[in-house]
Amino acid sequence: FRVDWDMEQAEKNGYDHFMLKEIHEQPKALQTTMAGRVDAENHQVQFEELNWTPEQLNKWNKIYIVACGTAYHAGLIGKGVIEELTRTPVEVEIASEFRYRRPIVDENTLVMVVSQSGETADTLAALRESQKKGANVLAITNVVGSSIAREADQVILTMAGPEIAVASTKAYTTQVLSFYMVGIYMAQIKETISSQEQKTLIDTLVQTPDQMEGILEHVKGLQWYAESIQNSDHVFFIGRGMDYAVSLEGSLKLKEISYIHSEAYAAGELKHGTLALIEEGTPVIALNTQEELYDKMLGNIKELKARGAQVLGLAMEGNLNIWQYVDETCYIPATQSLFTPLLSVVPLQLISYYTALGLGNDVDKPRNLAKSVTVE
Ligand code: G6P
Repeated sequence: FRVDWDMEQAEKNGYDHFMLKEIHEQPKALQTTMAGRVDAENHQVQFEELNWTPEQLNKWNKIYIVACGTAYHAGLIGKGVIEELTRTPVEVEIASEFRYRRPIVDENTLVMVVSQSGETADTLAALRESQKKGANVLAITNVVGSSIAREADQVILTMAGPEIAVASTKAYTTQVLSFYMVGIYMAQIKETISSQEQKTLIDTLVQTPDQMEGILEHVKGLQWYAESIQNSDHVFFIGRGMDYAVSLEGSLKLKEISYIHSEAYAAGELKHGTLALIEEGTPVIALNTQEELYDKMLGNIKELKARGAQVLGLAMEGNLNIWQYVDETCYIPATQSLFTPLLSVVPLQLISYYTALGLGNDVDKPRNLAKSVTVE
């Protein structure tokens, strides 16, 4: 036993848990994912493993992104990125729904399956079903030689390195990064963005690892915030657009390791029911990083405050007036609205980690959950 224990400590590299280690490994992981693919000098994305042509891309009139859990949440960001940059319609679906639903997929469809492990049973079944219908399947996965990597027509490896904690962190951010790279790559080939836009996108993308590092250097405030919510019965996350997709991931992270009930809502939906759940002191984490939606979100935050919610506002540096509307603030470095998910998810991962830690939970191995779900 002693030997095992020492080995595990060594693998944790000085961190108390794999999850914390993996959160801190993210800037490095992003760099590895980009290496050889993002050419910062010539402002281009290259994918030798894909080598797509304009003919091939134009043939695909629809894209499906299919996955489970955190990988599904990465897919929601993927939809936002690909639609924005290429104007190709993208549908995102949970694998266990997709496979039993007779989805409209044919040889003109590109199906992207996303899976950290490459072994998730429902995702693998969705891949097989899609191929049977004649679709081309691109796998975005972290595990070389996994079933999904072997059976897919094309593969993008996320290169996150081994992820041990059940709650996914660096696998998610490298999946999200892969979608940025694929989106820019497609837009380059389809010429749906100008060369100036391409330059700005690449310049913004390559600075994210350093910006993420900056967030990781300031965790104290988040530890304090985590302590303040650890005895709450419910924690809600709200956001619009990209922020809504990140809210879903933040909420999943929190519930899976802290066991606190949590849900994420599209902020505009609040008044259609959810607002009824807000009481004096209910914690709400409001993501407000989307420039064009900033004022709309402030409106939603005001509605929440009027009902007594305790609001943590998460915004970009520069949008400093948010503090006037919320109880606590958390800032991420300024970037283009399209790219905020890579940064805004990091404080949410840390809040979940410290909340679960404060509650004395087994952070790396939450109850009832498995790292890889190879059965239905
Ligand atoms: C399990 C894991 C999640 C993961 C999901 C999909 O539920 O606990 O962290 O997001 O499976 O796994 P995959 O390996 O396909 O990404």
